[in-house]
Amino acid sequence: MTVHFIGAGPGAPDLLTLRGRDLIAACPVCLYAGSLVPEGVLAHCPPGARIVNTAPLSLDEIIAEIVAAHVEGKDVARLHSGDLSIWSAMGEQLRRLRALGIPFTVTPGVPSFSAAAAALEAELTLPGLAQTVVLTRTPGRASAMPEGERLAAFAATGAVLAIHLSIHLLDQVIAELTPHYGADCPVAIVWRASWPEQRIVRATLATLDAAVGGEMERTALILVGKTLGAADFDDSRLYAADYDRRYRPVGAEPRFPEAS
Ligand SMILES: C[S@@+](CC[C@H](N)C(=O)[O-])C[C@H]1O[C@@H](n2cnc3c(N)ncnc32)[C@H](O)[C@@H]1O
Repeated sequence: MTVHFIGAGPGAPDLLTLRGRDLIAACPVCLYAGSLVPEGVLAHCPPGARIVNTAPLSLDEIIAEIVAAHVEGKDVARLHSGDLSIWSAMGEQLRRLRALGIPFTVTPGVPSFSAAAAALEAELTLPGLAQTVVLTRTPGRASAMPEGERLAAFAATGAVLAIHLSIHLLDQVIAELTPHYGADCPVAIVWRASWPEQRIVRATLATLDAAVGGEMERTALILVGKTLGAADFDDSRLYAADYDRRYRPVGAEPRFPEAS
C-alpha cells in the first residue's frame, strides 16, 4: 500500500501530469484538498472509489483516513492544488507517514504562478529587467511569516513577485511595494487561472485598486514587476547569431570545438 501525493494543478482538469492522472485512476481511495481541486480531476478516480474532501478534516482525521486505507491494503491518491512544493501542507503529512512507516510517492503538478503567467502570455524573467521570481505570500491568520520574509525585503531586490494568498490584503500589498517599485510599476492579478471563470486585471501599482474594483474572490495571484507587459527588453544572448556555444559552435575557433 502506498500514498501517492499528487499535484492536481491550478484548476483545468487537463493541466494534470499523465503520471498523476494514471495514479488517480489506479487508487481505490482519493483524498482531495477542498474547493481548488476540480471535479474534472476527480473524474479520473476508478468506479466505486472512496472520495473524501479533506477541507473540513483536521490533520489527525486525514491521517486516520490514510491509516484505515493502509490497514485495508488500499492505495491512496492524495491531491493538493497546484504543485506540492508550495503551501500544500504535504510536509506535515509526510512527517506523520514516515513515523508510521507508511510508504508514499510525490508527483509534481503545475503551480498556479505558472498558470497565471501562461494566462498573461508572459515570460516573468526577461534579460536586463528581472532574472528572479519570488514566490511569496503575506501573513495569514494561521500562518505567520518568519522574520525577514517581508514583502518590502523582497521588493528591495527588484525581483518579480508572485504573491499568493493575499488578494484580501491588496491595499497593504500596494502600500508596501510602491516605495520600492514605483507607482508606475506594472501589476497583474489573475483570478482562478485556467478555470472557465478566469479573470485578469492588468494595471500599475497606482491604478490597481481602482482597476480591481472590490473583487473579493480569493483564489488569485498578484504578480508585480517590470517584466509584466514589457516590450522593451534585450533578446537573450543564448540565441544570438554570433553567440558561440556547445550546441551551436560559431567562428573559426569555437569555444567547444569537440561539439562541431
Ligand atoms: C494554499 S495555496 C496553494 C498553492 C498551490 N500549491 C500552487 O502550487 O500554486 C492557494 C493560493 O494559491 C493561489 N492559487 C491557487 N490556484 C490558483 C489559480 N488557479 N489561480 C490563481 N491563483 C491560484 C492563490 O493565491 C491561492 O490563495
